[in-house]
Amino acid sequence: MIRAFHTFPRGFLWGTATASHQVEGDNRFNDWWDWERQPGRIAEGHHSGKACDWWGGRWQEDLDRAAADGQNAHRLSIEWSRLEPEPGRWDSSALEAYRSILQGARARGLSPILTLHHFTNPAWLNGVGGWPDPATPARFASYVRKAVEALQDLVDTWITINEPTVYAYAAYSAGAFPPGERNIGRALQVMRNLILAHAMAYHTIHEIQPQAQVGLSHNYRGMAALHAWHPLERFLAGFRSRVYNDLIPMAVHDGRLRFPLRRETMPQAARTQDFLALNYYTCESVAFDLRARGELFGRSVYPPGSDVSPTGFIANRPEGFWQALVWARRFRLPILIAENGIEDQTDGIRPRYLASHLRQLWRAVNFNWNVRGYLHWTLVDNFEWERGWTQRFGLWELDPSTQERRRRPSADLYAQICKANGLSSEMVAAFAPEAFDSLFPQRGPGAVAFEPPA
Ligand code: FCB
Repeated sequence: MIRAFHTFPRGFLWGTATASHQVEGDNRFNDWWDWERQPGRIAEGHHSGKACDWWGGRWQEDLDRAAADGQNAHRLSIEWSRLEPEPGRWDSSALEAYRSILQGARARGLSPILTLHHFTNPAWLNGVGGWPDPATPARFASYVRKAVEALQDLVDTWITINEPTVYAYAAYSAGAFPPGERNIGRALQVMRNLILAHAMAYHTIHEIQPQAQVGLSHNYRGMAALHAWHPLERFLAGFRSRVYNDLIPMAVHDGRLRFPLRRETMPQAARTQDFLALNYYTCESVAFDLRARGELFGRSVYPPGSDVSPTGFIANRPEGFWQALVWARRFRLPILIAENGIEDQTDGIRPRYLASHLRQLWRAVNFNWNVRGYLHWTLVDNFEWERGWTQRFGLWELDPSTQERRRRPSADLYAQICKANGLSSEMVAAFAPEAFDSLFPQRGPGAVAFEPPA
């Protein structure tokens, strides 16, 4: 058997990523709490409920798990609605609770990366106009000021807003997130306000903490025509990709907003990233479909024969991760992989997904591209938004009714990777033998196909 070791740079960050609403539980003051109680909003009528009970203190045992498995970083988010449950009323006990979690992470050797907005808002925000309202970026910035002033001694890496494009689309065009609007014009307006909010947050954080590292997390999703010969599909794939993948990253890079029918200059948004936080899950093909008006007439599909996750949500496309890295590199910033993972209750795909994605990441670090770390989504199964508990992204399985955790084989694989600071052929042979030949191809005389251990 061929033997190889894909090593990562010294000091590389290995960890997992979580988001407040998905793990904390009892988030009564945010816009999801009531939304989850409206019929038809969440798959199978699920609720976040206690989630992973982090607010009840189970963050301690979960961060113990992360640290024991060799991780040295953790990405988490804080809830604006806990800090400011009513407009202008600040709850210092919530800040204290977050201080304990951040101190706990650091005490375990996990460098915290803190997200300030991960899809949820205080419930009161929609009542005053929500994200389409021109005053909301300043509302967000005043929350950011409170948070950063109180937490700056514990955090030096901040992600202002998670996946602004996904949020704007899901909440204002697809209607899947609260407030459930279906209006693409409003979604574009929200994207604009999210860029302004990010820019204000960026400048606010640097004013308080000049040496801070501040970024924005982008969900990159490669898009190609389903039929390469189809000119309309090729046009649509390119058009959708420019809106989905490029619009916000370009605006925070050069301060120019390139909406399909309108251009605008926003000098305050230029150069407002100290690093590029990249979330990558999959890539898609675009099929022309006149019924898909809200998606600009392109329906997103996975080509027949794709290696898909149990609910069909994610296709295992490691080459798309490479494409995402090539895309990210053109911004000439340090890159942090802020999310990557797959939903997989039985852990049948996850080991090969993990190994084959890390293989692509290794190609990048092997060229000395400035990649700082990899944060797997996620540590323990959590509440997956409108998909409720139907999708399981955890290295650890969770039974939300008992709070019992069970280790999946992927947790063992990831622990070996983190501890060794790299991926070895032995790990792949043991955890994902079916992917061995594609990860370690042998060519030429004497090459033998890999035989999985009996
Ligand atoms: C990302 C979100 C994260 C999680 C994963 C599966 O888009 O940022 O909260 O739901 O998808």
